Amino acid sequence: MTMLSSNTRTKALHWLGKQLSNQNNPASWLDPLLSEINPMLVQAYTPARVQQVIRETEDTKTFVLKPAGRWQGFEAGQHVNICTDVEGVRRTRTFSLSSSPRLWKAQGEITLTIKRLPGGLVTNWMHDHLETGDVIGLGEAFGDFLIPEPARPVLYIAGGSGITPVLSQLETMAARDYNAPVTLLYFVRTENDVIAGEKLRALAARYPALTLTIIATHETPDPRFLTGSDLDGIPGLKGRQVYLCGPKGLMDLANNLLSERGIREDQIHSTFFAPPAPARLEGDTGGNVTFTNSDVQVSSEGDANLLEIAEAAGLTPQYGCRMGICHQCSCRKTSGTVINRLTGEVSGPGEENVQLCISVPQGPVSVDV
Ligand code: FES
Repeated sequence: MTMLSSNTRTKALHWLGKQLSNQNNPASWLDPLLSEINPMLVQAYTPARVQQVIRETEDTKTFVLKPAGRWQGFEAGQHVNICTDVEGVRRTRTFSLSSSPRLWKAQGEITLTIKRLPGGLVTNWMHDHLETGDVIGLGEAFGDFLIPEPARPVLYIAGGSGITPVLSQLETMAARDYNAPVTLLYFVRTENDVIAGEKLRALAARYPALTLTIIATHETPDPRFLTGSDLDGIPGLKGRQVYLCGPKGLMDLANNLLSERGIREDQIHSTFFAPPAPARLEGDTGGNVTFTNSDVQVSSEGDANLLEIAEAAGLTPQYGCRMGICHQCSCRKTSGTVINRLTGEVSGPGEENVQLCISVPQGPVSVDV
């Protein structure tokens, strides 16, 4: 056995004391050790073990996950960030939960239904490598795409993998016997692209309030998209809460047709899988950006957001969705004005939290990155 000199012992004890007193971020030194012993003990995120992988369609799989007991649960329609190492680099992405909260309460399980995206680093890795028994990291659930309470008539317009939060909500409504008419118009390219078709049909059979229509857009030479008459055929359309989830083309079309029919903006609830159209930004944009924690200063032009500017400067701030929904990129702006890229809203000049991925500088800005 090698004896440590008293100097080395003192240094080692000093190091250990420092780590033990590092209460701000104990995970930074403890997690690598814990992940070797048992990945379900890691502290920086909630570990979730893959229980099962179900193939839904050619390019969509459902991952059944069992999060560690400290995960706090979710409401139907919410999102979650997952993190995993892909080729040695930690990646974070945002997905909707596709199962009902009841499954989590009863069995401690949740599901994510994920479509392979062309060129999608994480979705492709999950499809090709994530297997039963593997562990990924899970953030707490977030989002306000929630079932209306008290019960009100609802119209869902979903496209492709946009069905996932709707599945969670319909399961919840059926189990609670949600007492109002519910209509789902579900658009897919072809019959083979229907996700959870059996589950949807079974839901419609046991939950009489639900009217289910599945529309394949590309089964005929002329694509068949959402039309005004699809909407005009829905009883009591004007009194419905409308939930949109799907590709941008479908969301834009639905928004136009709904507004032509007098549906107010406050009746429409959207969640999106691709960045929505940016707002028109008034005035000059761009300016000098100081990333104070990194001691980096750069100048920016045009409508680049703070996340893009930081990355172009070689920094690696945390992010998830890159479209303003997950708040993973939130950080403190200590001075300067930014424009919200989604709403066009202009911030005050002082200290506040901003989301880097949707904040465009207008003049000099300092942020804690
Ligand atoms: S990365 Fe999700 S809000 Fe910015």
